Amino acid sequence: MPHMDDKPWSGFKSWVYSLVFRTPKTNKLVVEHAGLTDSDRTLDIGCGPGAAVRMAAEVAAEAVGVDRAQPMVDIARKRSRKHANARFEVGSAESLPFPDGSFTVVWSAHSYHHWEDPTAGLTEVRRVLAASGRVHILEQDGKAHGLNDAQAEQVVAELEGLGFGEVAVAKLDKQVIVSGTAP
Ligand SMILES: C[S@@+](CC[C@H](N)C(=O)[O-])C[C@H]1O[C@@H](n2cnc3c(N)ncnc32)[C@H](O)[C@@H]1O
Repeated sequence: MPHMDDKPWSGFKSWVYSLVFRTPKTNKLVVEHAGLTDSDRTLDIGCGPGAAVRMAAEVAAEAVGVDRAQPMVDIARKRSRKHANARFEVGSAESLPFPDGSFTVVWSAHSYHHWEDPTAGLTEVRRVLAASGRVHILEQDGKAHGLNDAQAEQVVAELEGLGFGEVAVAKLDKQVIVSGTAP
């Protein structure tokens, strides 16, 4: 991936991002695409200021966000005080701080292309998903900060290699979403 981060985002970068992208349309897109129900336990990897987690918390039983930047988690917690079923943890995609099979739905929005080790991250997604749980990786379609067709196919191959089924690529609103179902 071309834009891996070698260190967590700073407080200043997190603060600027959280002001510019308060409620990104793409967060709504991925949450709607996930088709959540009130029995779902959800995880957003690279949750940033937590808008998607708050949207999910309106529907799901539990909505969790994880981000490797402590300042992002601080902002997300502050903005989510009214959501009793939402919580946030500091942690990386490559080493998720959750037990096996914790979630029924996992997604990541505009974060995957930053992961230092995408294979390790998807392996962790597989571990924390319950059987038949769904994953959705959303990125900008064909952009430098996103996934081109070949890179999306690489995500498909990685998921299939991990035993995911029903792996599909959707293109919506200039975004690409790679989804799969855990075995
Ligand atoms: C462009 S922001 C997207 C935030 C949010 N998902 C959204 O759509 O508004 C990317 C986020 O991914 C986080 N991130 C980058 N690499 C990560 C990793 N390996 N594990 C967890 N979070 C990561 C960054 O700290 C940042 O908050």
